[in-house]
Amino acid sequence: AAPPDLAGRHVLVTAGPTHEPIDPVRFLGNRSSGRQGYAIAGALARRGARVTLVSGPVALIAPPAVDLVPVQTAEDMLRACLAALPADAAVMTAAVADWRAASPNVLKIRKVPGAPPPAIALTLNPDILATIAAPGPSRPRLVVGFAAETGDLRETAAAKRLRKRCDWILANEVGAGSDVMGGTDNEIHLITEAGTEDWPRMPKDAVAEKLAARMAVELADR
Ligand code: C5P
Repeated sequence: AAPPDLAGRHVLVTAGPTHEPIDPVRFLGNRSSGRQGYAIAGALARRGARVTLVSGPVALIAPPAVDLVPVQTAEDMLRACLAALPADAAVMTAAVADWRAASPNVLKIRKVPGAPPPAIALTLNPDILATIAAPGPSRPRLVVGFAAETGDLRETAAAKRLRKRCDWILANEVGAGSDVMGGTDNEIHLITEAGTEDWPRMPKDAVAEKLAARMAVELADR
């Protein structure tokens, strides 16, 4: 069993996709399964942390002893995250929709025979990671982001770490053939101020254990 080295700590975890309504029956979403985030929430809880898991719509059961806050949209997710503070650490694995419909229809959009398809105007969603990681009195001490990248992964992810002002970024390859998004394995590059660490390909549960152990070390000295 894992040592209870996160006892007394509160960790905020986001997971899953967000669903952005177009009308009462349609939404914009993505293929995030939530698996990596749920695994991390479970691993942190097993080390004794109090875990708030803010989750978009997924087909998963929350791990034992985790406080689940289910949300649909990015705006809901941001509100739930801010409400969960203070936290010692935050791990943002959610695949937040970058855009939402600017004005979702109150009524179902009707298909009118012969009429052209409707145009859906989009507007930018808030960046939850950047909001949580922004300097301020309620910033968690350790803020961890994820970066699903294709191609020049290390450089892009390192730039993202600085832009979003998070402490660590876990970058993974999601290009064609990588089988990561929705799959059970992950191949992580941990990017910190000190540089990049390449982890071997391993199951998402093992990534979660490794990250939780690293976080316990990082949070130990206070
Ligand atoms: O910019 P990009 O979406 O690649 O950044 C990924 C990281 O940022 C992830 O940790 C994700 O959870 C977080 N993110 C967020 N809110 C957004 C977009 C991304 O928290 N609107």
